[in-house]
Amino acid sequence: MNHLTRRQFLKGLGLSLAAGCFPCSLTLAATINSAPEQAATTLRAAAKRAGLYVGAAVQLRDLKNEPDFAGTLIRECNLVVPEGALKWNVVHPQYNQWNFNPANDLLAFAKAHGLRMRGHTLVWHEAFPDWAKNLLTQGYGLSLLEEHIEKVMGTYKGKLLSWDVVNEAINLKDGQQQGLRKSPWLKALGPDYIAHAYRIAARTDPTATLVYNDYMLTGEEGQKGAAILALVRSLLDKGVPLHAVGLQSHLWAPKTVDVPKISAFCREVKAMGLDLYITELDVGEQDYGSDFASRDKLVAQRVDEYLNAVFSECTPREILTWGLSTRHSWMKDPRYFKTNTRAEPVRGLPFDEDMQRTPFGDTLYKALSALPPAS
Ligand code: XIL
Repeated sequence: MNHLTRRQFLKGLGLSLAAGCFPCSLTLAATINSAPEQAATTLRAAAKRAGLYVGAAVQLRDLKNEPDFAGTLIRECNLVVPEGALKWNVVHPQYNQWNFNPANDLLAFAKAHGLRMRGHTLVWHEAFPDWAKNLLTQGYGLSLLEEHIEKVMGTYKGKLLSWDVVNEAINLKDGQQQGLRKSPWLKALGPDYIAHAYRIAARTDPTATLVYNDYMLTGEEGQKGAAILALVRSLLDKGVPLHAVGLQSHLWAPKTVDVPKISAFCREVKAMGLDLYITELDVGEQDYGSDFASRDKLVAQRVDEYLNAVFSECTPREILTWGLSTRHSWMKDPRYFKTNTRAEPVRGLPFDEDMQRTPFGDTLYKALSALPPAS
């Protein structure tokens, strides 16, 4: 596999931009086919026609080392989100250490190929280093929150389309007020940490769309969705600058999508004057033994159910899958997907290991193509 150094990767981007050719790093040129007939049937073309962004979470190393993967991203997407590069443990590994290289390189790649980038995520209970947890317990929570958001958002001021400012703040099982997750942030600053985060974010980058991102809204007998709506409503009632709700949208192949509940949630979000994004769409599976054709059929059925439920109420301006190709998916990691004990290949993304579009991808393409064209 072709392993580019960071310098080669960036040089490649720079040379291609200078040459005015279809902007791509030297190693990518061979794999990018921008033939007009292909362009018309890509996810990117369908999204463009509908006036929205379609994309995926990616790791920079995969773009640098796999030209076919990078070529597929460029051809099929107009939006990208770093899977890990903007999380605390990468971007702020120690109190006085910052590492923006991976996110900078991904932003340079996106810019070179006409993609936008979104930020994920500023305040989360995971990927949160112990040094930061310790400072929270010592009473430095608000100054740490301010310093991190001002530094990270400030670095990309005016350059990112949107930000998941707070991620996964609701967890009813923790029995806290408002169903809030018992996170280090809640323990240190109380429920107001959320409002603080959005106010700091809004003054740091007034150009960015500020998103509250969460998952499994139909979970906990649907109570989780109600708690998310109540949280968002309370923030808006306090004049907190919040512009959109991000539905992570991690579907489960064995489970029929609760269309009425999803649609009702989307209706409520729109009624509050907020945008709604699909931020991490993928389909987890229980059955890894069946043939791909039957697995793909079930996966595509869930995607179809879900997109119909959402699109019946709104047109998300941003639609991202959590991974572009099944070659790289967190669903192959038994730490997160207990059913995948042997890290089996997965089918719950729009492109397969060979960068061929899956029935998931076909279903997403059809749903995007059925949206009304941008005015
Ligand atoms: C996951 C990544 O995909 C993994 O590689 C990482 O080890 C853990 O985090 N919801 C989120 C994402 O908001 O940030 C998580 O990403 C998946 C669940």
